[in-house]
Amino acid sequence: MSESQNEASNAFDVRPGEMATELPATFDAGLYFIGRIHTPWTRREDCPKHARESDAVCTIEVEERYAPALAGVETCTHLLVLYWMHRSRRDLVLQVPRHYGEQRGTFALRSPVRPNPIAASVVKLVAIEGPRLSVVGLDCLDGTPLLDIKPYFASTDAVSDAVVGWHVEQKS
Ligand SMILES: C[S@@+](CC[C@H](N)C(=O)[O-])C[C@H]1O[C@@H](n2cnc3c(N)ncnc32)[C@H](O)[C@@H]1O
Repeated sequence: MSESQNEASNAFDVRPGEMATELPATFDAGLYFIGRIHTPWTRREDCPKHARESDAVCTIEVEERYAPALAGVETCTHLLVLYWMHRSRRDLVLQVPRHYGEQRGTFALRSPVRPNPIAASVVKLVAIEGPRLSVVGLDCLDGTPLLDIKPYFASTDAVSDAVVGWHVEQKS
């Protein structure tokens, strides 16, 4: 059993109103973990619910072999970081997030529980020292595997009038 399969067996329980599906027997692609993320949080319940909830400085540690790929990153104020939620189960298609209490489809949620448990956050780059990046804006467990780092372009990535309808309704 691979590390990620083994870690994923440490799964959330299924709550009333949630639905699991049967996952395919084989994977369609492979990926490389390119480093690890170090944060102050060792329990899921202690993590911020989203990346804007905490101003803790976290460290992204890129593996030495990929360090040359960081050339130019020091010129960026913000980065899009993709990471692998290695403690998540992967089979839920309907979920009832504890803090919303209503059933929604996995693809309408930012939950870490999804067929490919890829998380995304826009972070502020505070410092960079060799293959170590200090950033603000992460919400993951200490030791979470790193998948990718990309520059955040406010000019093309920001959509100021974007709406998540169910979330607006829930707040009003
Ligand atoms: C709601 S997700 C949002 C992740 C990312 N910002 C996104 O939007 O894709 C953040 C939550 O995932 C959970 N989490 C953090 N690290 C995890 C990990 N390595 N494996 C599984 N769950 C994790 C924590 O409960 C945390 O509050």
